[in-house]
Amino acid sequence: MLQVRRRASFDNLLGTYRKAKKTRAACSTFPGVSSNEWGVIMSEKFVRLTGWRANGAVLIAGIVGVALTLGAGTAAAQVLGSQHDLSLGGGAQSTTGATTEVCVFCHTPHGANTGASAPLWNKTLPTTTYQRYSTLPSSTLDGGEAPVGSVSLACLSCHDGTQAMDVVINTPGSGGFNSGGIPISGGAIGVMVNPDDPANPGTPGPVPMLGTDLRDDHPISIQYGGGGCSATDVTCATLGDADFNTPATANINTVQAWWVNTAAGGGAGRQKQDMILYTRTDGPAAQEEPFVECGSCHDPHASTSTPVSFLRIDNTDSSICLACHTK
Ligand code: HEC
Ligand code: HEC
Ligand code: HEC
Ligand code: HEC
Repeated sequence: MLQVRRRASFDNLLGTYRKAKKTRAACSTFPGVSSNEWGVIMSEKFVRLTGWRANGAVLIAGIVGVALTLGAGTAAAQVLGSQHDLSLGGGAQSTTGATTEVCVFCHTPHGANTGASAPLWNKTLPTTTYQRYSTLPSSTLDGGEAPVGSVSLACLSCHDGTQAMDVVINTPGSGGFNSGGIPISGGAIGVMVNPDDPANPGTPGPVPMLGTDLRDDHPISIQYGGGGCSATDVTCATLGDADFNTPATANINTVQAWWVNTAAGGGAGRQKQDMILYTRTDGPAAQEEPFVECGSCHDPHASTSTPVSFLRIDNTDSSICLACHTK
């Protein structure tokens, strides 16, 4: 039975099938599908995404099966095929046929960058100077800052547009280690770019490539709740700003961890659908304290659009915002 893990792959398949029916081109295996279209259907990416390896006769049954499956709303969140898949046929803004691996653009099992906060990180981190939200004249900002860092720097290693997206420390296969970083595609994939702002043709908009000016982005590397929460007040009895929900906490591998529970994450322990706060020691308290970073709101592996990909929870009724802010 056909397993479709992503709606787009189903849409592609259906589009190909409809086109095939329209052109009525001949194909010995599946009448109505030209050999070119058959090539598309049988392409490695298609097989990878659907796990489908049967013959043509099963295809129609497969399509019906897929429709039923998707009707039941079972498209799962994953990296493969998502906008974070830069490999052959992935959903990123540019992709490369040089590899079918998807994790390698961010992680490596060996030789990882231990200076990065993201696990087994396969990229060098930007050394860029960023403009920060705190430099805007906000008269209500309470939290102190740490340098732009933690997991946010890992995100910014693509999203600030300064480093080619496929430059990694350890390329797929043997003999591919280069501590300075080397492009998987041999230079075919460049830095992240933005589409033009329709109101200002010729001027690219500010997303998804955030650039180095982070003043127009939600603050990151900022203390949670206006500060007050730290290793000496792990339960956050005295948050600096009362307009925040009190985070949960636990000591995990001798590191004090904090997060904000959400309904989707449930109450038991830290789950990936909770708003994750990142423990840092290089902030104003100069000891372990929780910070808001890109990864607080985003899970880079969750491809389901809610309404954009890579959010920790669905943002219906602004539930992401309300997880932290009491407004
Ligand atoms: C676009 C970059 C990117 C890609 C591609 C990616 N990851 Fe990650 N991954 C990250 C970042 C960033 C973190 C740290 C997230 C955090 O701190 O919450 C992470 C964390 C993790 C973690 C630990 C935290 C967790 O969520 O369990 C695991 C395990 C992991 N990734 C596995 C994978 C695997 C397996 C793949 C390929 C299928 C993959 N990742 C692809 C960026 C990526
Ligand atoms: C993980 C927790 C968290 C989430 C989720 C979150 N915020 Fe925040 N937000 C913060 C923190 C912490 C600050 C810094 C507040 C301070 O120090 O005064 C902040 C700051 C802000 C500010 C600037 C406040 C000022 O005084 O200048 C605005 C506006 C804001 N958030 C809106 C939002 C919106 C809208 C969302 C949802 C899209 C959201 N936030 C999601 C934690 C969060
Ligand atoms: C290896 C490069 C790379 C890294 C590292 C990376 N991203 Fe991305 N990200 C992309 C690309 C490519 C896109 C697609 C952009 C486009 O479609 O124009 C994207 C898109 C996104 C989107 C938009 C999704 C949508 O539906 O529009 C979000 C949100 C996002 N990334 C968050 C993150 C966060 C958070 C991190 C760190 C935890 C991260 N990314 C790390 C390459 C990366
Ligand atoms: C406080 C929560 C929060 C933080 C922190 C945060 N984001 Fe987001 N981000 C969101 C939400 C919510 C959306 C969806 C906005 C929407 O619906 O248009 C989003 C959207 C995006 C998008 C897609 C924008 C678009 O319109 O195409 C990208 C890319 C992105 N974030 C990257 C990042 C990166 C990189 C960081 C860290 C530098 C970051 N985000 C920090 C909440 C956050």
